[in-house]
Amino acid sequence: MFALNETLQQLPKTEVYDELHRQARGLLDGERDPIANAANLAALLYWTLPDLNWAGFYFLSQPDELVLGPFHGKPACVRIPVGRGVCGTAVAQCKTQIVADVHAFPGHIACDAASRSELVIPLLWNDRTLGVLDLDSPLPDRFDPTDAAGCGQLVELFLHGSDFTKL
Ligand code: SME
Repeated sequence: MFALNETLQQLPKTEVYDELHRQARGLLDGERDPIANAANLAALLYWTLPDLNWAGFYFLSQPDELVLGPFHGKPACVRIPVGRGVCGTAVAQCKTQIVADVHAFPGHIACDAASRSELVIPLLWNDRTLGVLDLDSPLPDRFDPTDAAGCGQLVELFLHGSDFTKL
């Protein structure tokens, strides 16, 4: 059902995201379990986008704390206070964070010493923040607004296709 996407990586970035969106629709079709959908989306992103060392989710377990969700990459820190690190900042500001150099980001939480840049997108649903999608790269300045927009559309698909009363 799911083939690795090496050939996709030759395409222009916008086309990669178009194809990722198509594959994500197929993966999430008919399934509304948020953990299953988050797990498949993390796998799809990790195995498709070039130069990632981590791709996954954190969910708000209580108003002021994120807890690790499904991911691919090395084991990561489990709990992140809202307002701390790149993930906690994305939640506190309700705003996507594109960090070109994580070492220059005040309070960055280094789960994997290899990470050099990071993209974090808040999961905003009906005036609620549910958590974040977090991508890490070993390359500096790996993420740009095209990545933020492409991943943002995948987040929308995930939010519309999952039943968060079960989270
Ligand atoms: N670097 C993140 C922590 C999560 S790991 O990257 C997986 C942060 O500063 O919030």
